[in-house]
Amino acid sequence: MNKERIAAELLAVRDRSLAYTAADDDLLVRQHSPLMSPLVWDLAHVGNYEELWVLREAGGIDPLRPEIDDIYDAFKHPRKDRPTLPLLGPAEARRYIEGVRGRVLDVLDAIDLDGPTPLHRDGFVFGLVIQHEHQHDETMLATLQLSGQPGLVRDGELPAGRSGGPEEVYVPAGPFSMGTDTLPWAYDNERPAHRVELAAYWIDRLPVGNRAYVAFIEDGGYEDPRWWTAEGWQWRQRRGVVAPLFWVTDGHAWWRTRFGRTEPLPMDEPVQHVSWYEADAYARWAGKRLPTEAEWEKACGWDPEARRARRYPWGEEDPGPDRTNLGHRAAHPAPLGAYPGGASAYGAEQMVGDVWEWTDSWFQPYPGFRSFPYKEYSEVFFGQEYRVLRGGSWAADPAAVRTTFRNWDYPIRRQIFTGFRCARSELV
Ligand code: AVJ
Ligand code: FE
Repeated sequence: MNKERIAAELLAVRDRSLAYTAADDDLLVRQHSPLMSPLVWDLAHVGNYEELWVLREAGGIDPLRPEIDDIYDAFKHPRKDRPTLPLLGPAEARRYIEGVRGRVLDVLDAIDLDGPTPLHRDGFVFGLVIQHEHQHDETMLATLQLSGQPGLVRDGELPAGRSGGPEEVYVPAGPFSMGTDTLPWAYDNERPAHRVELAAYWIDRLPVGNRAYVAFIEDGGYEDPRWWTAEGWQWRQRRGVVAPLFWVTDGHAWWRTRFGRTEPLPMDEPVQHVSWYEADAYARWAGKRLPTEAEWEKACGWDPEARRARRYPWGEEDPGPDRTNLGHRAAHPAPLGAYPGGASAYGAEQMVGDVWEWTDSWFQPYPGFRSFPYKEYSEVFFGQEYRVLRGGSWAADPAAVRTTFRNWDYPIRRQIFTGFRCARSELV
């Protein structure tokens, strides 16, 4: 990690945030869903977070605007209440985050990346704010999708899909190393590396696609409580859920709405916008189950020959356009089979990029977990409330995705760019 790279990452993520907030003021201050903040909240919040961590904590600089800390503290005000706060307007928010950023570059200039504290070492505090801003950028994309407003989000070309190949790949029994001690910008929840022994299992080579998901629907999957957990069935009944979010049908064909446009459902793309309950029900219908988080990580990142964990499924090389769909190259997942060059050691594909993947696991600390640098990033979310998501979506940035990265959300959430793949235990 060097200063040029850090400065370039800071610049890139800010360009991204500004692009997502280039719309009319009205769109930025409006609340598009009670699940989401007004976009202008996210914008000033990333600046306030940067001020808190880089300027005050790492740089020892006095607060610029202490009076706004409360407004942008995510724990003080739930998302649904944020539009009622005295938020900075769009122009003022842009000025504020720019003012913070100028001083952040001064701190970067002066900082010693070899010490003296773990916040400074390897530029961890910069990794913290860069990843934070990218995560909010992905959240802003979900807000833009919910807004239904056309013409706001960049789209692009992706490689074609590829049919054929095995449905599942086999992961033999044995130990692997889960998590990391060495990746410099890994979060506290990815640490420490620890040995996990797994029985043999099969895992889908690819995420579940729209065509397969339609088969589940047309086979009456949403009408049959056998496939659902008790809470899942209750959720499906109460909400009247009959298909993934943003899907539309006339009883014959399927469409989806995507960033304000309605288009035929692309049958060869991974399904997205499903809750954990839907993913879990589909897996049972298919005679399978969701992978545990450990099964997911072993299939994605473990190199059984070298007996070490890889940063990405294919190795250590940075993600390129021939390996994975990350970093908002297009505004949707790539078709199934698009990335043979992104295969893991076990032959699983599209594990990183395209869609976040639900796992069967609750978000829990690894053995030996220590909170760093603050409890509210990970620790307060541990327990049996949030399910772990892995792999990163098309809307996630390479700076915030690696084989060890852990995301989490409530099992009912569907506005996120989430799909899944199935697994099953080896028959003995
Ligand atoms: C890790 C994506 C669940 O968005 O709530 C943003 C990331 N933490 N600001 C979230 C986060 C603080 C977090 N997730
Ligand atoms: Fe945040």
